[in-house]
Amino acid sequence: HSNTVAKTLGGKLYYGSATDNPELNDTTYVAMLSDNTFFGQITPGNSMKWDATEPEQGVFTFAAGDVIADLAKSNGQVLRGHNCVWYNQLASWVTAANWTAAQATSILQTHVSTVVSHYAGQVYAWDVVNEPWNDDGTLREFIFPEILGISYITTALVAARTADPAAKLYINDYNIDSAGAKSTSMQNLVASLQAAGTPIDGIGIESHLIVGEVPSQAALITNYEAFTTLGIEIAITELDIRMTLPETPALLAQQKADYETVVSACKAVARCVGVTTWDYTDKYSWIPGTFPGQGAALPWDDNLVIKPAYDGLIAGFTN
Ligand code: G3I
Repeated sequence: HSNTVAKTLGGKLYYGSATDNPELNDTTYVAMLSDNTFFGQITPGNSMKWDATEPEQGVFTFAAGDVIADLAKSNGQVLRGHNCVWYNQLASWVTAANWTAAQATSILQTHVSTVVSHYAGQVYAWDVVNEPWNDDGTLREFIFPEILGISYITTALVAARTADPAAKLYINDYNIDSAGAKSTSMQNLVASLQAAGTPIDGIGIESHLIVGEVPSQAALITNYEAFTTLGIEIAITELDIRMTLPETPALLAQQKADYETVVSACKAVARCVGVTTWDYTDKYSWIPGTFPGQGAALPWDDNLVIKPAYDGLIAGFTN
């Protein structure tokens, strides 16, 4: 594949992939992922989440996350940290008790500062808060907002900044590709954090999309710029474009066009720093397990062979 695609952050865009510890036994997979002339960035799919890093209160386990951080380091790849606070994959002890506000604040600060400190100096950007919104733009309820309200976001961001002043601090969500209630809520949040002096550097646009239902390039660019005009950067953090199986030539051709649309929209926006696909091969995609009957969402197939979507990805980066 082309050496012209991958860019470190010195270039316009990086291309990266999520990866996960169980897949690292697959030597062909790892060899391909470790080509840093192509993959400029990696994200751990699960191993830095709360249930993995603080499974019991005050007991921190970094072995699995360290494997991904070390892989990035030995490959010379940018590392994105994912994630500090999310409603899903919380450790069960977090949700099991009726915490006071002071206790909830302390739990949040301890978790964020311990995890971010552990990886300080190794992480380009952290998804400090993951998926804070419902699709209608209202605040998603889970234990921290239930106890602390929206201020849990500020608490997490401040703790992360103190723990690693060099890491870019992101909030990450899906269904914020084009204009709508959820995008508006995220943009209003960024503005209110900035007005309060709370650190916020970027918004992650996950981009779990559906073949044939990707917004137009113009709609993507308009919305991406609604974020960047606030003075922050953006990244496409979890791109995949799924279809209802079986694959057909028509679906694969549409998927190719859809990949090009998204990547070239990022390329067109000055402060869109990179595109990460949520893994690179269908072999390790989360889609079939979550959406039965759907899949084939990534640029490489189950046999690690490129699909038309790969050509769309390349076209987006190079055209
Ligand atoms: O660790 C257990 C293992 O012990 C057990 O044997 C196995 C059996 O099911 O499950 C393992 O846990 C799985 C975990 O991944 C680690 O492999 C969970 O069942 C599974 O639900 C979990 O899925 C992850 C999902 O987040 C959870 O919501 C996916 O791998 C991961 O790719 C996905 O990533 C999220 C992003 O973090 C946020 N945005 C959406 C994206 C897709 O859901």
